[in-house]
Order: sequence, then C-alpha cells, then structure tokens
Amino acid sequence: MEFKKPIYPIKQWNITETEFKKENNYRNETTFALSNGYIGTRGTFEEAYPFDVDTGLEGNFVNGFYESNEIRYGEANFGSPLLSQSLLNLPNLKEIHVILDGEEFTMEQGEVKEYTRILHMKDGILERKLTWTAPSGKVTEIHIFRLVSFARKNIMAIRYQVKSVNYAGTVEFVSKMQADVENHTRKTNPIVDYGPFGRRLDPDKVTVEKDTAYYEGTTKGSHLTMACGSSHELWCDGQKVTDVNWMAEAGEMDTISNASMQVKEGECVTLDKFICYSTSLDMEKEKLEAFVQDELAAAKSEGYEKLEEQQKVYMQNFWKTADVEIKGNEELQQGLHFNLFHIIQSAGRDGRTGMGAKGLSGEGYEGHYFWDTEMYVLPVLIFTEPETARKLLDYRYATLPQARDRARILGHMKGALYPWRTINGEEASTYYPLGTAQYHINADISYALSLYLQVTGDVDYLKEKGAEILIETARVWADVGSFAECKGGKYCICDVTGPDEYNVLVDNNFYTNLMARENLRDAVGAVEYLKEHAPEDLKRLEEKLDFSVEELGLWREIIEKMYFPYDEKRQVYPMDDGFMMRKPWDENKIPPEKRAWLYENYHPLFIMRHRMSKQADAILGMYLHNDLFTEEEIRRNYDFYQEVTLHHSSLSTCIFGIVACDIGYLDEAYKYFSQSARMDLDDYHNNFYAGIHAANMAGTWQAIVNGFAGVRCQNGVLKFKPTIPKEWEEYAFRLKFKGALLEVRITKDEAEFTLLEGGEISFTVRGKEVVLKSGETYTYLLS
Ligand code: BGC
Repeated sequence: MEFKKPIYPIKQWNITETEFKKENNYRNETTFALSNGYIGTRGTFEEAYPFDVDTGLEGNFVNGFYESNEIRYGEANFGSPLLSQSLLNLPNLKEIHVILDGEEFTMEQGEVKEYTRILHMKDGILERKLTWTAPSGKVTEIHIFRLVSFARKNIMAIRYQVKSVNYAGTVEFVSKMQADVENHTRKTNPIVDYGPFGRRLDPDKVTVEKDTAYYEGTTKGSHLTMACGSSHELWCDGQKVTDVNWMAEAGEMDTISNASMQVKEGECVTLDKFICYSTSLDMEKEKLEAFVQDELAAAKSEGYEKLEEQQKVYMQNFWKTADVEIKGNEELQQGLHFNLFHIIQSAGRDGRTGMGAKGLSGEGYEGHYFWDTEMYVLPVLIFTEPETARKLLDYRYATLPQARDRARILGHMKGALYPWRTINGEEASTYYPLGTAQYHINADISYALSLYLQVTGDVDYLKEKGAEILIETARVWADVGSFAECKGGKYCICDVTGPDEYNVLVDNNFYTNLMARENLRDAVGAVEYLKEHAPEDLKRLEEKLDFSVEELGLWREIIEKMYFPYDEKRQVYPMDDGFMMRKPWDENKIPPEKRAWLYENYHPLFIMRHRMSKQADAILGMYLHNDLFTEEEIRRNYDFYQEVTLHHSSLSTCIFGIVACDIGYLDEAYKYFSQSARMDLDDYHNNFYAGIHAANMAGTWQAIVNGFAGVRCQNGVLKFKPTIPKEWEEYAFRLKFKGALLEVRITKDEAEFTLLEGGEISFTVRGKEVVLKSGETYTYLLS
C-alpha cells in the first residue's frame, strides 16, 4: 500500500492553502467547496478567473435540479433510459470585482503576499486573506469570508473586506450575476456521450435594481425553472453605509451592480453579498420571484454576522455528536474532520432530495445518487444525525412510484426496483451491466432503513413509510430468482451485478443473495409487527399495494433456501458462481499507467473474464452481517479477497479495514484506514477535481466506529468489540441510540462508556451485557 505526502499543512480543524497556483486550482475548488445539502458552490474565486476545462470549473448547484437530454445509444435495448439527468451548473453570483483607486484586484498581476485560504471546518466558513500590492505600488489588505447557510437553506453569503494600507482613494465594488454558464460534461464525465452541452438555461427574466439582482430561467430539456438573486450591504469602518449610489445594469444573461466609496489611508470597507437560489421543484414557478426577494430581504436584515453566528452554532452541534477524536495522529484526525465536514455539507435534508456520490461539490457522475448514500453515508448519519438520515430515507420513499414503474419495465408484476443512478427517482444508468443489473440497491436501501429503525426505535416511521419500502423491495426479490433443481432446489438469482463492477451479469452474487435474504427477512418482520401492533396500517398497505400476507409464505421459503456459492477446496464464498473459473489476473501484464483505469483501457469482456475484483463485495456482506459467520470463516474469506481485490473503487479500502479489525489484523486495518482517511485530501484517485468521494469519506467514520470499536447493531442489539491501533493513545466518539447519547472512549487499557443523555441504554461489549443509567460510566478492561 502506497501513501501520499499531505498536500495541505496538518491542522486538525483547518485546511489551509498558502499559495495560489493555477495548476492546483481545479482540485482545490473541490477541497474548498461549500454546501448545505441544498446549495453547493465550488471553491472558486470572486474574481472569476477565466480558467479553461482543464484548470477550473465555476460550479454552483442546487440539489435535485437537473437537466435532461435524449440519450444517444448505438444500440438501445428495451428499457434503456431515454432521458439523461445531469446536475446542472447554475448561474454564478459569487462574482465580485474590486477596483482599488483605478486598479482592478487580480492575483495574476501586482504582488500577492501573506496569502492564505482557510476552510474552517469547525465553523463551516471559508476565509481568504491576502495583501495585494497593485502595479502602481498601492497596498491593500483583502479579507473575504464565505458561507452557505445551514440555518437558511436558500442562502449563501460573502463578506468582502478591503483595507487601504498606504493610500486614500476610491474603492469600487462591481458585483455580478452571470447566467451564461455551462457544464464541463466532456471533462467531468468523459465516458458519457450525451449530457448538458452548452448553456442549458433559457432566461425568463433578468432584472436588477440598484443592489438587487434577480434571474429566472428554464432548462431546455427537463423544463425546470430556477431562480436566483443577490442583494448587498456596504460598511465603512464598521458603520453601515446607507447613502450608497448603486449603479446597475442588466444584460440578457447577466447583471452588474456597482458602488464606489472614498477611503482614507487605513480605512476598511466591507461589502456583504447575500445570494439566494430556489427552484420550481420547491414551489410553483409563479411564486419563485417573491420567495427569492423575501429570502434576500430576510437574510439582509439579519445581516452577515448573524448568519455566521448561526453557522457556528449549527456546526458546533454537529461536531458535538459526530466528531471522532483521535489522540496520537493529527494527520488522520484532519482527514477525518475533512471527510465528516463534506458529509454533513452534502446530505439532502428536505425529504425530496438525496445525496450525490460527489455531494454538491462537482459534476462527477453527473451528480447522481447511488447506493453510496445508503451503505456508506446513512450508517454514519443514523448514529449521529438521525433526523437527516430520515430525510434521506424519505427521498427513497418519495420515489417509490418511479421504482414501481421501473420494476414493471424489468418484468416484475409486483414490487419496486430502485434505480442504480438517479436524481429524479428514474433510472439514469445507461449501461445496464454496470447499472440496472445492480439489483442489490433494493437490499441496500432496505438495509439502511432497517438500521435506522433499530437504532432510533422510530416505529412510527416503520408504520408510515418503512414497511411499504420493505414490502415493495422484497417483492422483487421474490420474483427475480427461482428454486433451481440443479442446485438442490435452492433459490438462485441470475444475471445481476453485485457491488463489484469488474464481475458483471453474474449468477448468484454472494453479496446480492445475502442482502436479498436479509431484505426479505426484514420485510417479514415488518409485516408481522404491523399485524400485531398496527393492523390498520397493514390493512392500508394491503389495499394500497394489492398485497396479501400470504406472500410471506414464499418469502419465508426463499429465506430458508437461499443459495450461496461455496468453494469446497478453499472453503470460501466466491463472489459468484463463475468466479473460480475465471482466468487469474496478472497485473504485470498491465502497464502501470493503465492499471487504475481498466474500463478506459480494456474491453469489458477482458476485465470480466479475469479473477479479480474492483472493490469490496462479498466482504462487505460479511462486515454487515458478521453475526452470521464464524470469525474463522470471515478470516478465510478476507485472506482470499485480499489477494484478488484491486481497490480501484474508492468504496473499497474502508470496508477491508473494518473486516481486518473484526479478525484481529489490526496493522493491516490501520493501513487501510490511513489511506481512506486521507484519500480525498491527498487526492489518491487523481480525480478530486470532479468532486468528493462521499462514500469513502463516510467510510472512514465507519472504519473507526464499526472497525476499531467493532460497533454493530443487529437484531436491535447495540454491540461493541473494542480495539485500539498501537499507533494511538486514545480515541473517542459519541453515538445516538434510541434517544440516548453514549460516549465511548477507548485507550490502550480500557474502553469507557458514559451515558451522556437519555434515561437508560443497554448494549454488549464482547458479548457482555451492560445497562447504563443517566450519567453512569462502565469500564471494560482491554488487556
Ligand atoms: C463504484 C460504485 C459507486 C460509484 C459511485 C463506482 O466506481 O464501483 O460502487 O457506487 O462509483 O461512487
């Protein structure tokens, strides 16, 4: 395993850039991206430098807002999605130019000194500070703050401060809105041949009055409308300036508002810019303008400082529960903070949006939502931010109708099949072997839902929404396979793709069969619960879904007879029926520069015919359901998969690290963890410019909590199996469980559990049952 050198200085709570370099710009735009789960904005500069497709992307997004195009296929099969969905790059309102006594500030001219750009992860604020000497020798201190508000979903704000050091003169702010924007489709999604090329928003209305700009535009393909606007406030040495003479001009697709002020030597002037985005997905188109104007007025009257204060409070609350403290390695601590920061930024919170594999930080994967949310992100949020977790599950509930339609297209007369890639709930994956064939998405969603129900005890959710998802997903499992005579009447599922994308359209993928069985088991449990505790809800579902409890008979039989591939010789579970027959992989035959990019360099058949794996697959199933296997069995499988897994997906190493912990391979676990913790911060996959790898980011939390501390929640029981890597002195984290807040602190000698909030909690530590009352601590000796 190779390790990269840290790109940014090691500071627990900050990511700092100390020099502006064009060649690092595209990547750094993702590093410094801000989001609140609704608005996402890349870490671009207010000066709006003219970067090209290889050096930068001005990116502003709204979760769920997409453009559609007809998908071009060489040979389309029945059921291929016909319309694409791409997260659309929206008008930019961050643009601010400052003309300092006749000279426009730009980092490309004059001299830039004391430059720092700091992402304050504790506070949710981005700061840039520098001293600029203009070509004429006039010196100005520039200090800029930016936030995307957690308190006000539609608002982002910029505070731009300018202090003259050695001159008196005019400071002119030129604040812009630029709607002539387009996606970088070719660069950010090179393998797709369709998508939003060129400008896709047609302006419906562009106005500006003094300092307040408004834009409304409708997409050419998806016919969605978006609205945005901005408004400003000016200050001089801490005093609000009320008599500003704003000059404004609107073009066809842009607006300019400018204001000039006289400054004395040493005086500081500040421009606060409030920006608002909303879309017709949130309200009727006709209401957008009034909404945007009201939001801007409200943000302005509250003021930048209030927004900053609210931001800090929100983040403090988040870290209070979600932080994982590591004593003994600041580098990993920084990586972990960075990862958690991007996770909390990226999650949709309105029940109508999900979370993209790249969050809202870039255009990679067209902004699509995948299983990454349910299997990687949700387990973190369920234990730390259950409210947000529920909202993400709500999104899946809200899109059940589309999943039902999809199931019919795939020939299932009952049930729902969730899309592999999507934004609006419809399938958007165009290559079915790597897309729709990943039926495991159904079981992944039901797994996350069941975990949510166990950890929160939210039975109302089960009754209102959860049971319906479980029943509908289970019905597809009951239809997709058959009891095969040649396999002794066992239930087989053929022609699916498991999580591993180098072994596709396989028969009996181990992970899929295992997770499908557990999906069915959870559905049986849900129906039985309703039968006993909420018969009215069951009746409602029977009518709504044309469902009968008699279906449970078949589900139970499948649970009992599910088939799993097994290799007697090595005593392992091969990934699928054909895995052991495939040709051994010889990496030496692949030139190093092509190794990590197999699909870009080799025909899919060449890849599929080899016995190797892109990412954690069977091993992931064994992590989640480790109670169903002996430790010895897991060890044998781990050793086997360790040999054949290439970890070409960022979703892999964190899972191997967790399983390595489970079987006592702590050194190996530590290496895996170290790589996942800094994967994005040090750009291990060399594609951070296209956006974050949200799954791995969340996977690092899991690697500590589920890995080193051995946390599982199975059959409603919270379990711990604590260990500590030899490199650490201590680590600590908190978990929410059924309304209680538990703190776990693990040192080399002991694991200490304290109930911080809630009346009582029960859990097990290496099988020993523990009950804690409010404020009590239990200590478990490790050695
Ligand atoms: C992985 C998938 C993942 C997707 C989005 C692919 O490379 O193989 O498992 O869902 O990336 O992160």
